[in-house]
Amino acid sequence: MKRHLISAGDLSRDDALLILDTAAELASVAGRPIRKLPTLRGLTVVNLFYEDSTRTRTSFEAAAKRLSADVINFSARGSSVAKGESLKDTALTLEAMGADAVVIRHGASGAPHRLAGWVSGSVVNAGDGTHEHPTQALLDAFTIRQRLGGPDGVRVTIVGDVLHSRVARSNVLLLSTLGAEVTLVAPPTLMPYAVQTWPCQVSYDFDAELRKTDVVMMLRVQQERMTAAYFPSVREYRRRYGLDAGRMALLPEHAIVMHPGPMNRGVEIAAEVADSPRSTIVAQVSNGVTVRMAVLYLLLGGAGEAA
Ligand code: NCD
Repeated sequence: MKRHLISAGDLSRDDALLILDTAAELASVAGRPIRKLPTLRGLTVVNLFYEDSTRTRTSFEAAAKRLSADVINFSARGSSVAKGESLKDTALTLEAMGADAVVIRHGASGAPHRLAGWVSGSVVNAGDGTHEHPTQALLDAFTIRQRLGGPDGVRVTIVGDVLHSRVARSNVLLLSTLGAEVTLVAPPTLMPYAVQTWPCQVSYDFDAELRKTDVVMMLRVQQERMTAAYFPSVREYRRRYGLDAGRMALLPEHAIVMHPGPMNRGVEIAAEVADSPRSTIVAQVSNGVTVRMAVLYLLLGGAGEAA
């Protein structure tokens, strides 16, 4: 495995499978009375979050703590970033404190890549702009494997605001590496321009795709990244691309419904779908901790041991 995890495209099939297998082993720790392993004792993990996050930040924090690492949480608000300090100066400060890994979320696509050039520790991309979110794709692959097996040969349909979604980009790369058949469904205005070069299919017929998919992954409509009107109204979006109970009934019996969170209930996903037994949304969150434990463990020195 490489020293950093910046893109899901950095992972070979073997790397990705090693992470998923390691996560499966680590999942047993979550069931123990004392949920801690001494593996990363003495190492420091910095969480550097320039964008808001609930799940991802707490999940990385829990993962590092369960491996006994020291965790420093740094958020742009309330730090010298608010005084105009640059990413580079912040990175050099963290470097001086001896960070062994920096987990970064940033509004600018490419920020983790830049950071990797400035620090000696491992950099983990926890979401950069509209670019990538590789650990989300890993936890999604883990969840698919847990529920349906694969992901080799599993049909996955990713629906919604693909244009602004780093989750969609990372999932297309990772799931195709793992042999899944991925189809994107979005309004034409929210389908990225160069999507033909991606390793997936594209469809504009949501209902037809639902009838033959194993997994439907709903994406949040990312209003905060929209600089123009991409659809006429929320009502129209919901009617054409929202997943409600009626549409969910088109899915094959075994199919599951995923969403990375945070959800816009009543927009891309109806409450009765989000809370239905087919929904894996809560499982995705708990799998996030074990998958991130596996990533930190493998990046920070466990790789040799595991191999
Ligand atoms: C996603 C993100 O931040 O990219 N959420 C997450 O990490 N669980 C998706 C989103 O914000 O819609």
